[in-house]
Amino acid sequence: MNRYTFIEAELENRLSRNLYRRLKTVRPVSGVEIEADGRMMVNFSSNDYLGLSRHPLLGERAVEYQRKYGSGSTASRLVCGNYDCFEKVEKRIAELMEREDSLILNSGFQANISLLPALSDRDTLILSDWLNHNSIVQGCLLSRCHIKRFRHNDMNHLEELLRENRDKGVSRILVITESVFSMDGDRSDIDTLVELSERYDSFLIVDDAHGVGILGKRGMGLACGKDVDLVMGTMGKACGSFGAYVACSKDTKDYLINFCYGLIYSTALPPAVIGSIDAALELIPTMDKERRDLLRKADMFRSALNEIGYDTGKSTTQIIPVIIGDENETLDLSKWLEDNGIFATTFRYPTVASGQSRIRLSLSALHTSQHLEQLVALFKKWRERGKHGK
Ligand SMILES: Cc1ncc(COP(=O)(O)O)c(C=O)c1O
Repeated sequence: MNRYTFIEAELENRLSRNLYRRLKTVRPVSGVEIEADGRMMVNFSSNDYLGLSRHPLLGERAVEYQRKYGSGSTASRLVCGNYDCFEKVEKRIAELMEREDSLILNSGFQANISLLPALSDRDTLILSDWLNHNSIVQGCLLSRCHIKRFRHNDMNHLEELLRENRDKGVSRILVITESVFSMDGDRSDIDTLVELSERYDSFLIVDDAHGVGILGKRGMGLACGKDVDLVMGTMGKACGSFGAYVACSKDTKDYLINFCYGLIYSTALPPAVIGSIDAALELIPTMDKERRDLLRKADMFRSALNEIGYDTGKSTTQIIPVIIGDENETLDLSKWLEDNGIFATTFRYPTVASGQSRIRLSLSALHTSQHLEQLVALFKKWRERGKHGK
């Protein structure tokens, strides 16, 4: 036994259970094409739903801000990193979200793991959807308070927990959910969540990471313009950049500036990133047509897969899980798709429940009908191969 034994043992364990994760090197070629292992592939795994990561305006604005403010922000915003460009972008986010104010944070993961502890004390109860993202799960654990999970999107169960627990000596109840679930592509019922939070006086937090850019008013997410106490959105997905924000009241923002350690003790985002966020926020409200076309393509694609007999769960968005169930078959299918020019990542336990292994497809406004037809044809072929035992 030495101090590295645990590393070897845990890696061995992962390998033996076929759960070993590896980084794969890819080179982006266009908005929806990548090169990996010397082969060009159509990418169905990226969260760049609008193709903005390669939009010229984001690049130009990034360069402009880098030239003006430098390559790094040099310190936390509470020290000397609070350049006026942050405040300008926060004002734009607040206006677009119809909220009093907003606050930029360094990433969605960092936001979730630092917001929840900031908003909790030891007597807080957090009610969290069963399928919430790992960053929310970690945020709950770091909060060191009482945590209960409600059945996925089950508003009756949430109400039962709110009713049972409100008089049990808790200091406050936080309810947290996603607007569009990252592994399933289904949506939460924001109106009912708002209504329940009003009725039971709980503090509602919605992670709109996969809704921003695609759904809601001006494409600003499902929680845009709704009475959600705090909306968290990310800039690394449909916005094509990096970082995150919360949209909330002025008081809540001031509270976070005082208590959110992810903001207080971390160097602010680089100015170039703020520049590209600024450009993305200029473009997103003008992209209604792209959003409509993308959601229509997703509907057609889902129907085509369902017709062949694939299970796409409860997806109603640009995220489409193809739930295979068996881990080995999911891995084989993903490998076979790769051999046929399609990059589509598998998600297995522990990211999704055991027996729910899937290929998670994310559609982009840049995918053409040809790309989609090619993929449907491949899924069909795979099914037929299976039937013939090949
Ligand atoms: C629902 C959800 N929240 C938060 C995050 C983390 O966001 P970021 O990639 O900006 O760290 C993700 C990322 O996958 C996500 O899916």
